[in-house]
Amino acid sequence: MAILAANWKLHKTTEDAVSWARAVKASPLARRCEVIVLPGFLQIPAVARELHGSQIALGAQDVFWEESGAYTGMVAPTQLRDAGCAYALVAHSERRRLAGDDDRGANARIRAALACGLTPIYCVGEDEKERSTGRFREALVGQYDVGFEGLSAQEARRVIVAYEPIWAIGSGQPANPAQAAEIAGAIRDGVFARTGLESGLRILYGGSVAPENVAGYLGDTAMDGVLVGTASLDPSEFLAMLEAVVDDG
Ligand code: 13P
Repeated sequence: MAILAANWKLHKTTEDAVSWARAVKASPLARRCEVIVLPGFLQIPAVARELHGSQIALGAQDVFWEESGAYTGMVAPTQLRDAGCAYALVAHSERRRLAGDDDRGANARIRAALACGLTPIYCVGEDEKERSTGRFREALVGQYDVGFEGLSAQEARRVIVAYEPIWAIGSGQPANPAQAAEIAGAIRDGVFARTGLESGLRILYGGSVAPENVAGYLGDTAMDGVLVGTASLDPSEFLAMLEAVVDDG
């Protein structure tokens, strides 16, 4: 089943977050995909209560690599598990730009998340300059090489990669499905070569996904799902994306 993940970024009060969860869980469309919702940290407990007993999964937008200590403002993997999360984004490009997250830190976050039973969603993607100068493949190799460093095949299998070209995020200019599929193939080959994994790496596409284009990334393509920002915020737009997904269940 395809994954449809909603990254709310810095949006929604607790009340808005709970009403989104209530609307989406009530729809039979929610069974068409593995739905994962990624609220702000402070909204996680209320959304977890609302989603309890539903099949919609919960995740966080970041996770730290230490479990406890003098790390002001950080949130530990076990704290996320305690709050009901099964997933955590790692090194989203907005965090790379604004909070200094990098590939080395991503590797530590991925290992810590795996050690505590969370599924990391590792975000990689080239910027506009890397794309226009044709150096995007090398840029991506650097990201997944370091991100997956030291992981066994069994560990690598539990990581989800989100390919999110920075130029496509929030721009209304998505990578087309063929571009996304080409990169997904390269990431798979690279991760397989590095970790010894032979199959089963899940890869999402993210960047200006919307109801009109979501179907192109799913179904019979190299993608296992999508990671959606803007179009995930309004529950009816989110349900419209689920409606566009062919019901394979
Ligand atoms: P948009 O869907 O708004 O382009 O954001 C994509 C994204 O960054 C999801 O993590």
